[in-house]
Amino acid sequence: MGKNFWNNLPKPIVLLAPMDGYTDGAFRQICKEVNPAIVVVTEFVSADGITHGATKLRSKLAFDPAEQPVIAQIFGKDPATFAAATRYCEKQGFSGIDLNMGCPSKKVVKSEHGIALRRNLDRAFKLIEAVATSTNLPVSVKTRLGWSDASDLLEFGRGAQNAGANLLTIHGRTYTVPYSCPADFEPIYELKRQVSIPVIANGGIGDLADGLRKLGNLDGFMIGRAAFGNPWVFDLSGAPGRFADKVPLIKRHVEYLTKRKGERVAMFEIRKHLLAYVRGIPGASSYRIALARVESVAAVKKILDKIVGQLELDESSKSLV
Ligand SMILES: Cc1cc2nc3c(=O)[nH]c(=O)nc-3n(C[C@H](O)[C@H](O)[C@H](O)COP(=O)(O)O)c2cc1C
Repeated sequence: MGKNFWNNLPKPIVLLAPMDGYTDGAFRQICKEVNPAIVVVTEFVSADGITHGATKLRSKLAFDPAEQPVIAQIFGKDPATFAAATRYCEKQGFSGIDLNMGCPSKKVVKSEHGIALRRNLDRAFKLIEAVATSTNLPVSVKTRLGWSDASDLLEFGRGAQNAGANLLTIHGRTYTVPYSCPADFEPIYELKRQVSIPVIANGGIGDLADGLRKLGNLDGFMIGRAAFGNPWVFDLSGAPGRFADKVPLIKRHVEYLTKRKGERVAMFEIRKHLLAYVRGIPGASSYRIALARVESVAAVKKILDKIVGQLELDESSKSLV
């Protein structure tokens, strides 16, 4: 498919947003099971780390073929390192490379990576060019509206396209506004009128139906936080009404994570997901402490079954009243 990958995908393109610490392979696989048509992106990985062979970082780039198409997201600031990291990702079999130009974390910004590249457009465009010319994979860029406003978004978008970007994802917030501010998609619709490559919107999209409502003239949308604890956001009919019908997918999540990372690490990492899965489930509150401490796959399954049993009991006692 090469550089035309994004153009050739059916529209609208729906993506799971990269979220460091959350969207690892097991979670990506779960989201793909809910909707096989979505495109998934790895958590961001340092280009320097990949090039220096950091084993832990490289393990973040492991993926299961069932996740395809899966895009590797890298961050950094050195064009030669980006190109080398890209070649590594190409060998791993990824379907594309995404360049992170939006991360606001203090450490990342201090190193002049992530959103800091929006204050150094020359460097940003050199990075895109270095990656685009070093691979046959499609190259995308994920960024925000801008640093403190969207005044240079069009300049950035046109420059990125000229440097070889094949798709742009724009998070409809600037660096300086908190997540509590609503995302603004107007500048993204305007950007799409000014470039010929596909443009994806991101920020505050609640589910598939919400994304379709906000799509406007864009080529697709990306959902992040709303998918946490609720991968059914990618199903047009929404999450199953009964917790019992969610449990098989939750159990598979636990199994996939265990298969990839081993039981000890998996149990540590699954706890936050389990707490999110039971959020708002009446009757689950008494199991929250146990879920936050689980140490084995068998224990997780037992607690999930107990919650289902408890909910069924509550239902049948209600019908007796
Ligand atoms: C915990 C967390 C980790 C994130 N990690 C990344 C990342 O690794 N790469 C990236 O481009 N964006 C990252 N983001 C930003 C998301 O991809 C997305 O742009 C943002 O959450 C807005 O979308 P949403 O409102 O649908 O969540 C992260 C966001 C969160 C909340």
